Amino acid sequence: MHQDHRTAGAAHPADREPTLFEWAGGAPALQRLTRIFYGKYVPEDPLLAPLFANMGPDHPERVAAWLGEVFGGPPAYSERYGGYTRMVGRHLDKALTEEQRARWVQLMCRSADDADLPDDPEWRAAFVAYLEWGSRLAKENSTPGARPPENMPMPRWWWVCDAYPDARISALAPPEHEEGDTMTPPAPDEPLSFEQHVKPLFREGDRRSMRFAFDLWSYDDVSAHADAILARLQEGSMPCDGAWPAEQVAVFARWVETGKPS
Ligand code: HEM
Repeated sequence: MHQDHRTAGAAHPADREPTLFEWAGGAPALQRLTRIFYGKYVPEDPLLAPLFANMGPDHPERVAAWLGEVFGGPPAYSERYGGYTRMVGRHLDKALTEEQRARWVQLMCRSADDADLPDDPEWRAAFVAYLEWGSRLAKENSTPGARPPENMPMPRWWWVCDAYPDARISALAPPEHEEGDTMTPPAPDEPLSFEQHVKPLFREGDRRSMRFAFDLWSYDDVSAHADAILARLQEGSMPCDGAWPAEQVAVFARWVETGKPS
């Protein structure tokens, strides 16, 4: 049973996106992940077991600290375990094969399931993207004779293409009844303004869904993109959970025609 990461283990200030570290559930969650990976899967895997036969007892904690730092958590690996130089040094001359790399990624994903890490599309996309990137670097660095650049900064990973958890309405979410539903339509000859008549047409969920591109509650953003927004409203493809009634589209169209007053 996966916990709801929108409410549990993902405390983050409401005025910004959560980090991948926060969304994962912080250090305890990443430690669960690496303990399962190195404790359960690696020892029984013929490709990986020999590679880690002599690892130190704190190896799972070290890799969890690395992941936490890369995912926007505290700089635990840099401060306690040796930072970038140490990590790169541990892969040198290991001559990792593609089969070993792919197995490493596959079993990390399986461990993430076992460790009850978030399974939402956004977090998993970012997680897998990092595992692919990092494991391919580890393999490259492990090639005998490879000369990885020295003293590089720690990588910082982020949501893929800004697809963060609140950026869309889940197809499984219950229907929303929000402020937009109850807007009183203006009289036909009443002058329109963005604040009074247009902004209230957009629900909080609409705003969230579009935040990757622009802010539907910002006059500047909506007026800059007004033609594109109007086209989507008229064809019924926005909002994605159901087209607006014609009167609402007409209010937006009239606001555009009358010079987009603020
Ligand atoms: C995103 C990808 C990866 C990350 C983040 C990562 C992370 C790390 C870190 C932080 C260390 C050093 C721990 C320490 O001693 O302080 C390490 C060591 C090591 N890694 Fe990786 N690694 C990755 C990919 C891989 C892959 C694909 C393999 C092999 C298939 C691999 C094999 C090893 C080995 C053999 C060591 C040395 C273990 C020992 O101390 O005996 N790593 N890794």
